[in-house]
Amino acid sequence: PYVDPAKLVADARSGGYAVGAFNMHNVETTQALVLAAEEAKAPVFLQVGRAIVPHMGLRAAYEMTKRVAEESGADVVIHLDHGPEDEVLEAIKLGFGSVMYDGAHLPFEENIRSTRRLVEIAHAFGLPVEAELGKIPDADEDVDWSAYYTDVAEAERFVKETGVDWLAISVGIMHGVPMTTPAPLDIDRIAQIRDATGIPLVLHGASGVPEDEIRAAVENGVHKFNADTDLRHAFRSGIEAVWSQGDRQLETAMAEGRKRMVAATIGKMELYGCSGKA
Ligand code: G3H
Ligand code: 13P
Ligand code: ZN
Ligand code: NA
Repeated sequence: PYVDPAKLVADARSGGYAVGAFNMHNVETTQALVLAAEEAKAPVFLQVGRAIVPHMGLRAAYEMTKRVAEESGADVVIHLDHGPEDEVLEAIKLGFGSVMYDGAHLPFEENIRSTRRLVEIAHAFGLPVEAELGKIPDADEDVDWSAYYTDVAEAERFVKETGVDWLAISVGIMHGVPMTTPAPLDIDRIAQIRDATGIPLVLHGASGVPEDEIRAAVENGVHKFNADTDLRHAFRSGIEAVWSQGDRQLETAMAEGRKRMVAATIGKMELYGCSGKA
């Protein structure tokens, strides 16, 4: 069944854990996420994001996710991940449970203005909004972190002036899994942003982050983790294992991918502390 996303994250905050938010890419990966949620008794955000939207369109991706979600017994929220403005508006119309508007590339004042406008619209329809402040680099991008980190004072103003529900921050994370060992997360900055904003924080790029840093992030204010790459790799390893034995049906290969992705997703849910919370 669908669950109230605002309550889901609020419960995670009061319970001292985080909810997993994972990207769907086709029917089998979506099934893997709901199967894991059922088995782990964990609530889950099913994210429609940047890879799938150009591939099949927002509406088709949403309809597919909805169908898989409604066939399952898991507690789910269908969430738009990294939406530009037009996708956020379309997602609200389609019936998504919550949305992320990503204006992190904009100058600060413009990010405030466009986020505030979308928050007003989304709230009128009863949807919570996640927004991003500070830029999140891709794995192995050579970055000057000082230009990427979320600034604490800016975060305070951003949240106050936009009315956003959850804030995605940049504290040393990267999308994807870097080949070289990443610098540790800036846990002090997470705590400072939590204290300055008073709202639940979101950590993107959770693939490739060491487990002790994930736990420290939860203790300091992160209550939603976005992970994609690690689960995609689990799915791929299943396909490769079947295909390396010679020609096999696509379904046989995807079934093995799905099975491995279920196991990997349950592992994340246990790490984030949301298993048993559905
Ligand atoms: O925000 C990220 C997209 O959903 C994909 O992330 O390229 O690190 O797997 P990724
Ligand atoms: P990873 O692929 O690093 O897990 O990041 C996923 C993400 O942030 C989706 O929004
Ligand atoms: Zn992300
Ligand atoms: Na990552």
